[in-house]
Amino acid sequence: MEKPRFSTLIITFIPIKTKKNMKQDIKNRSDVQLLVSEFYKKVRENKEIGSFFNNSIKNWEEHLEKLTDFWESNLFFVSKYSGNPQKAHIAVDAQNNQQINAEHFGIWMNLWFETIDEYFEGELAQRAKSNARKMSSHLYLKIFQNRDN
Ligand code: HEM
Repeated sequence: MEKPRFSTLIITFIPIKTKKNMKQDIKNRSDVQLLVSEFYKKVRENKEIGSFFNNSIKNWEEHLEKLTDFWESNLFFVSKYSGNPQKAHIAVDAQNNQQINAEHFGIWMNLWFETIDEYFEGELAQRAKSNARKMSSHLYLKIFQNRDN
């Protein structure tokens, strides 16, 4: 049998390799659950922002469930989350002597982007990033507007 040419080998193997290495998009609630729980692992261990969460959240299972509801609602237009993030963050800022700043939000965003990139890619992954960016600026502005001084 004739030996396959090098170019044939490349054409045969490149698509297989690419497919194997390609990440999937966020497709359903269980993907959201994975993203949220991996993200909060990083958040809790982070030396700059971890304490805001560790001091305030007593029931992590509940929090992760709530945030999975939040992101599932946000990405898939279901209505599972019914909360008030603005009010929650103004309260968290007050509990922390109004010390939450733009850098903390920047770290939050970096960890969110990093976790998305580790597991997913695609349209929904992109939307999870841009929606977080919008919400982050909105929350920060509201926190700032609600300070005493
Ligand atoms: C440095 C930035 C942030 C800090 C320190 C922070 C901290 C917290 C804490 C401590 C809670 C729990 C509040 C409680 O249960 O009493 C919370 C809740 C929550 N956070 Fe953040 N957060 C930050 C940024 C963000 C961003 C950028 C988003 C969205 C993109 C977000 C979405 C939420 C949501 C949806 C909840 C649940 C609110 C509720 O319904 O109780 N957070 N956050």
